[in-house]
Amino acid sequence: MIRKKIVAGNWKMNNTVDEAVYLLSSIESLLEEENIPENLHVVIAPPFIHLKMLTDLVQNAEYMHIAAQNCHHEDKGAYTGEISAGMIQSTGAKYVILGHSERRLYFYETNDLIKLKVISCLKNDLTPIFCCGEVLAERESEKHFETIKNQLVEGLFHLESEDILQAVIAYEPVWAIGTGKTASPQQAQEMHAYIRALIAQFYDEDVASQISILYGGSCNPSNAAELFSQKDVDGGLIGGASLKSADFVHIVKSI
Ligand code: 13P
Repeated sequence: MIRKKIVAGNWKMNNTVDEAVYLLSSIESLLEEENIPENLHVVIAPPFIHLKMLTDLVQNAEYMHIAAQNCHHEDKGAYTGEISAGMIQSTGAKYVILGHSERRLYFYETNDLIKLKVISCLKNDLTPIFCCGEVLAERESEKHFETIKNQLVEGLFHLESEDILQAVIAYEPVWAIGTGKTASPQQAQEMHAYIRALIAQFYDEDVASQISILYGGSCNPSNAAELFSQKDVDGGLIGGASLKSADFVHIVKSI
């Protein structure tokens, strides 16, 4: 099986209804003339309130998919302000970003909680984009591999082989998010290869070769091509640069 390539735009807490329609429409029209490879998914992760509207808007572009940025781990109930995986699935969205460092930092999400969210997504036929990443102090003290291993083992590797094959991993070094400081292509490749080796160790080579691993953290039109050319980098999770259609499309075309 050919590994899927994915370029995903994480809009975070940006865009009103009108802005969301405008941005998505201009991304779509810029991509219209392009030859999109069969194994490429272009994913847009807007705030929850835009999910249904955007899934309707991408109906005609087969390679485009919509993602949520989070979900609650329970199916339903008295959890004011929360959204379940089943509700996300009912909008037509296909992916859910889980365990983003901003969720871990500002909303105190732990590996144990993210694990429950992963399970809930899979139960609802949604593809989790499982985020992992070390903070600067961990990299500087050479604990980055250990951090990533813990996040993966505790949050994702509880899955059976057939289930982990439904997941996507995003390596997002926290020190590179929104800072303009990107991991070098070598640093990205080194960590992606490490993650793939871990999957092979906990599952097998075949599973490891099929899981897409995305890079995220200050990815932009000038550095995307070199990052994406690395052997184990299967695409990107783009924050700031996904809010400008020309920049995002440039990054998509760099794959
Ligand atoms: P930036 O591209 O703005 O650094 O954000 C990356 C990110 O957090 C994507 O999820």
